[in-house]
Amino acid sequence: MEPGIIKKLDEAVVNRIAAGEIIQRPANALKELIENSLDAKSNYIQITIKSGGLKLLQIQDNGTGIRKEDLEIVCERFTTSKLTKFEDLTNIATYGFRGEALSSISHVAHLTIQTKTAQVACGYKACYEDGKLKAPPKPCAGNQGTIISIEDLFYNMPQRKQALKSPAEEFQKLSDVVSKYAVHNSKIGFILKKFGEQPTIKTNVGSTQEQNIRYIFGANIAKELLPIEIEDNIHKFRLKGCVTKVNYSAKKGIMMLFINHRLVDSAALKSAIDSVYSAYLPKGMHPFIYLSLDLEPTNIDVNVHPTKHEVHFLYEDDIIEKIKTYIEIQLLGSNDTRAFYKQLKLPGVVENNENEDNRGSKSEVDKVQPKEIIRTDAKEQKLDKFLITQQNPTQHIKTEFNTSQSSLSQSMNDESFRVTAANISKEVRLTSVLNMQKRVENNCSVHIRKTLKEMVFVGVVDKHFALFQYETRLYLCHTLKFCEELFYQRLLFKFENLPQIKVEPKLPIKQLIVLALNTEESGWTEEDGDKSELASRAATILVEKAAIMREYFSLNISDKGELETLPCLVENHCPSNIYLPLFLLRLATDVEWETEEECFETFCRETARYYTIVSEVELLSDVNRHNWIVEHIIYPAMKRYLLPPNKLKKEMYELTSLPKLYKVFERC
Ligand SMILES: Nc1ncnc2c1ncn2[C@@H]1O[C@H](COP(=O)(O)OP(=O)(O)OP(=O)(O)O)[C@@H](O)[C@H]1O
Ligand SMILES: [Mg+2]
Repeated sequence: MEPGIIKKLDEAVVNRIAAGEIIQRPANALKELIENSLDAKSNYIQITIKSGGLKLLQIQDNGTGIRKEDLEIVCERFTTSKLTKFEDLTNIATYGFRGEALSSISHVAHLTIQTKTAQVACGYKACYEDGKLKAPPKPCAGNQGTIISIEDLFYNMPQRKQALKSPAEEFQKLSDVVSKYAVHNSKIGFILKKFGEQPTIKTNVGSTQEQNIRYIFGANIAKELLPIEIEDNIHKFRLKGCVTKVNYSAKKGIMMLFINHRLVDSAALKSAIDSVYSAYLPKGMHPFIYLSLDLEPTNIDVNVHPTKHEVHFLYEDDIIEKIKTYIEIQLLGSNDTRAFYKQLKLPGVVENNENEDNRGSKSEVDKVQPKEIIRTDAKEQKLDKFLITQQNPTQHIKTEFNTSQSSLSQSMNDESFRVTAANISKEVRLTSVLNMQKRVENNCSVHIRKTLKEMVFVGVVDKHFALFQYETRLYLCHTLKFCEELFYQRLLFKFENLPQIKVEPKLPIKQLIVLALNTEESGWTEEDGDKSELASRAATILVEKAAIMREYFSLNISDKGELETLPCLVENHCPSNIYLPLFLLRLATDVEWETEEECFETFCRETARYYTIVSEVELLSDVNRHNWIVEHIIYPAMKRYLLPPNKLKKEMYELTSLPKLYKVFERC
């Protein structure tokens, strides 16, 4: 068959196709119009609907209005007052940025704009079709603001019109949009009404989110709300909102998610939250969720989907995981949950066993071989199940100084280190550091990264090794080798932004270095000269270089030569106290202070080595504590942050796999 001839599409056709992507139903058009009114700084928005928005969808606001001169082109494609350069998109503070919404609407409906700005005496009215002004704008009376009327939506797309639901259902969708925006923008007064009828939604200017939730969604929801508030400096996000406690549930759950004030869908977040609630709510029932997530504008891409309903953002998995855990903790902390669990445990209360009814038929369909069944939840069964000691997790977070050899022992006690988070978030501009980061990224093995991300921790073997499971395989992993790389990378990737561990009271570095010189590991010999003199010199070097360490690595040494803070590389992890003196000595002697990149490289390597080291004394005194840290702090941090270089492949030994074991047993 002959190939078809390629021709350029007519502009009107192109525009109508594009418009059809943005405006799929009246609710999409309304969302665009509300966003325009919000961008125009309105505090009052009234929406009037005829026939589910298909006959008439009108929105009136009291915003800035549109200048008469702009009316000519306002409905053309790609005309906007909000964005000039592509780079602006990384920092966009308005809902709109494409200049496509009004144009799209004008390609699928009759559009009229009536508008008045504060600067002029009268308003203007203009009608549009296919992006073009039909006749010169006519002067008219009116208040400041804009009225946009959309009539006969999809008059030129009969199939689209037919595929829509009934006017009542379309009205419901319009009402959903208004409800959500009215909750999120509670200070703005919203009215939604059917033409000629009383408002179905009417919120007051200046009300609170809680008042609007109560008014729109009812007292049943409002009285069950748990406030949510997270501020995270690591992934740089803020989350505010509220969720219902476990007492409340409904067939049709409500999930309102705003990311940087945009109403968006997130299937991943939804399923994460659902999984939290599924432990409490009856099957098929859902909570009410309202969340407003603020991310660094530079970490989010809003330009992903024609309806802007979808956004992409950095660290999505980690952020969702944190939100999930936080909500889980909030729910567990609420009285209702406790009452709920008690109820379940009372004799006579049977758990919902709907699942079991389906089980028989399901197992027939996808039968899984026993050798393929793998444990994927680390909580299910771990090696320490076989140990008798039960650990109290919180006691491990503190550090203790074991300094029997020094007079400093009094001051170096349990409370020596305290972590303070850095609030600042600086952008790294130094080429040397950016290069080092790039190298780490380029060396990252996708395979090991995936293994780490999906592994399930099994147990600590000894100081050096731990076991984990990945798919059906069991691995022996050299914890220390992985750990050192982890700390090195944290120093690089949190460069200038590391939280601090406070050293309290401050420690005199010269005395610490003398302590170090007294140890065998320092390699001191008589020829090196007097220890006190050497220590003085080393301390002077460190005081001289203090500014670099303070500014870039949150390691503070005062002018008087006292150690005040150390960097916090991984949440809840503190380095060994015992090796602190040696670390300071090495900083003075082994860091290449003179050239920039080498200086950072050697500093990071030395520091990573110090943070990795586990002293025998500490290990002997409390091995369970060490194991706890490895399992609950180190491995989770590796899962989250480590970009493992290829060279770590040889530090991970595959011990066995289920299929192999089955072969062995088959032979027996
Ligand atoms: N209610 C309004 N009040 C004041 N100005 C408005 C209003 N609606 C639209 N405008 C003006 O019309 C322009 C075009 O609006 P349109 O929605 O088509 O594009 P946009 O909002 O800039 O981008 P996007 O297509 O992403 O929504 C806007 O940039 C704004 O200047
Ligand atoms: Mg817009």
